[in-house]
Amino acid sequence: MNFYVMTLFPEFICQGVEVSILKRAREKGILSVQAVNIRDYSGNKHNRVDDYPYGGGAGMVMAAEPVVRCYESILKKIKAKEQSASQPRVIYLTPQGTTFTQSKAKELSKEENLILLCGHYEGIDERALELIATDYISIGDYVLTGGELPALVLIDAVARLVPGVLNNEASAEFESFQNNLLEYPQYTRPEEFEGKKVPEVLLSGHHAKIEEWRRKQSILRTKERRPDLIKKAVLDKKDLAF
Ligand code: ADE
Repeated sequence: MNFYVMTLFPEFICQGVEVSILKRAREKGILSVQAVNIRDYSGNKHNRVDDYPYGGGAGMVMAAEPVVRCYESILKKIKAKEQSASQPRVIYLTPQGTTFTQSKAKELSKEENLILLCGHYEGIDERALELIATDYISIGDYVLTGGELPALVLIDAVARLVPGVLNNEASAEFESFQNNLLEYPQYTRPEEFEGKKVPEVLLSGHHAKIEEWRRKQSILRTKERRPDLIKKAVLDKKDLAF
């Protein structure tokens, strides 16, 4: 899967994918992340990409031209690589977008190419967005200084669902939010730490009992910490009786 990130701060994106699992997946060739500097498409000798807003008001607006030219160059690159490539989705990261969820991550993980657009200043000229954006995504109801952190969040959440990115395929499926249940608590050695013991059942080797205990813990934890999710959880008769 290939991510193309349109940004004024390419080093921000590059550093974010230079560690841990994303780094390994890139080295394995399962994933590529290319940060493309919008400033390279400013079209003027001062490399200016922002301007005053029509109608007045505080702050600056990213101009349409560099954004659209940058997009066109990425599109050209994709088409040169795969002639049959379908039109890639262009995701504008903005607090005005729909909230990013695990199911959106799953949906996006099926795409071959994704273009992410990071805004700065007071936003981007609306005409550029009308021309190129297909999706508007927010990572939560708070305002960040730009779209780079949201883009990295999206890349991380989507990439880990791409087959081969995680060592253990099962773990992508069973972790928090699958079926709207939170994950059960985990323990490792030692058996006792500062007077706190690992729950007995986990040492029993009784797989069915362990499974049942974990399921109950997931339900309890979701009810306690995320009561909003439990209403959407897929529960069977036994779960409901519990
Ligand atoms: N840009 C600034 N804040 C953002 C947010 N919460 N989500 C996505 N993009 C943003």
